[in-house]
Amino acid sequence: MPRIPLLSALAAQLIGALIVFGCAFLLTPLTGIRFPLMALLAAQGVVAALLGKRLRLAPWWVPIQLVAPSAIAVAYLWQIPAWVFLLAFIGFVLVFWNSARGGVPLYLSNNKTKAALATLLPEKAGLRFVDLGTGLGGPVLALAESRPDGHFTGIESAPALFLVSRIRGAISGLSNIQIRYGDIKTTDLGSYDVVYCFLSPVPMEDLYAKAKREMKPGSLLISNTFEVPEVPADETFEVDDGRRTRLYLWRF
Ligand SMILES: C[S@@+](CC[C@H](N)C(=O)[O-])C[C@H]1O[C@@H](n2cnc3c(N)ncnc32)[C@H](O)[C@@H]1O
Repeated sequence: MPRIPLLSALAAQLIGALIVFGCAFLLTPLTGIRFPLMALLAAQGVVAALLGKRLRLAPWWVPIQLVAPSAIAVAYLWQIPAWVFLLAFIGFVLVFWNSARGGVPLYLSNNKTKAALATLLPEKAGLRFVDLGTGLGGPVLALAESRPDGHFTGIESAPALFLVSRIRGAISGLSNIQIRYGDIKTTDLGSYDVVYCFLSPVPMEDLYAKAKREMKPGSLLISNTFEVPEVPADETFEVDDGRRTRLYLWRF
């Protein structure tokens, strides 16, 4: 049966509450210590976050699990109005649009990875590059600045992220970038020399099949961190950063 992440997250919180409040219930009569409620809720968040790993929840659940019990208690104690939660929920959905739908959360390419990407771009005037799922537009902006002879496109389907990267693009004043609202699945890859993605294991098999169908001879697919099952990369580039980022390259 497929796992439903929200149910796993709730189960982790429930077990966390049973462990933490159970221990407090046993220890208070023995030690005479009255544990502050907020400390217990923080401990529940820690236990739930640790359990989430065992329940194979994606890493972006960790901060949610950590703060959820304390945030709910604060909201209850301070009587925060319901519309604040509604707004926060809508904001969350607009940012993490693709996390539940396509299993692709938001994390960003770091500066060292962007610098490494610049060294991997072919020395071709008029080079065309696309970042599939551009997030906040970081790679597109950095590369467009370092390669004024190329053209850099970012595709994004999370409304809030699209808006932010569009605004960043406009503020940058760079004329060789384009941020487009769109879905990776319906983006034609045939006109690009370099296709970059930093997604998750979930879409890689389908994306590679699409790239193979559409990308032109001599073009390059680069995936940050995520490999394609059963299709070894033609080259691997290890970035000299804290997380030892790996870039996988396939040449068509
Ligand atoms: C891990 S982030 C990478 C952001 C950016 N490429 C970077 O390296 O900094 C993945 C991005 O892909 C976007 N995304 C996921 N699935 C998508 C889809 N089907 N179409 C368009 N964007 C998508 C997500 O919203 C998210 O912003």
